[in-house]
Amino acid sequence: MEPDVRITTETPQLLREEPAEALEGLFAAIQAEGMELAMTSAYRSYDQQWAIYEDRAAEYGTESTDESMARPGHSEHQTGLAADVISIDNPDCIHGDCFAETPEGQWVAENAHESGFVIRYPEGAESITGYQYEPWHLRYVGEQTAQEVVEEDLTLEEYWEQPSAAEYSEDQTEL
Ligand code: DAL
Ligand code: ZN
Repeated sequence: MEPDVRITTETPQLLREEPAEALEGLFAAIQAEGMELAMTSAYRSYDQQWAIYEDRAAEYGTESTDESMARPGHSEHQTGLAADVISIDNPDCIHGDCFAETPEGQWVAENAHESGFVIRYPEGAESITGYQYEPWHLRYVGEQTAQEVVEEDLTLEEYWEQPSAAEYSEDQTEL
């Protein structure tokens, strides 16, 4: 469904019902503190992920692109459980590390778990998650799991005892 939150795109951004409602709660909570977020991306189809990946790979090459983008078929955005957010007041930090230094980014880091979201790709965990630090990428896991992940300072790979940074198989190395 389409969460009732501010978005930056002309086309609607969709999430599954539970994360959509949770995100509305998160946006309301930060707004109550006088700050505003916007969502830039939520559900992406295989084809959309393909297009984004391919555009970036054409510019930066696959090795560098693999650090920041999931290949089509591997993105959390395809699950309808992930949302990218930005600080309206800090446009220079859109999808950048410095989002974490903004008041909005700090609030998200401290409070997102209360709404059931975790920062999926934490700083310093690149070798575990397989992706660069993304302080703006929120993954819905539900309040209890989010609480435990934050309290124990774990990645989801560690929490769910999954292998670190899975490699693409041979037949997926060519796009
Ligand atoms: N940027 C994240 C890793 C994705 O493409 O799903
Ligand atoms: Zn994302």
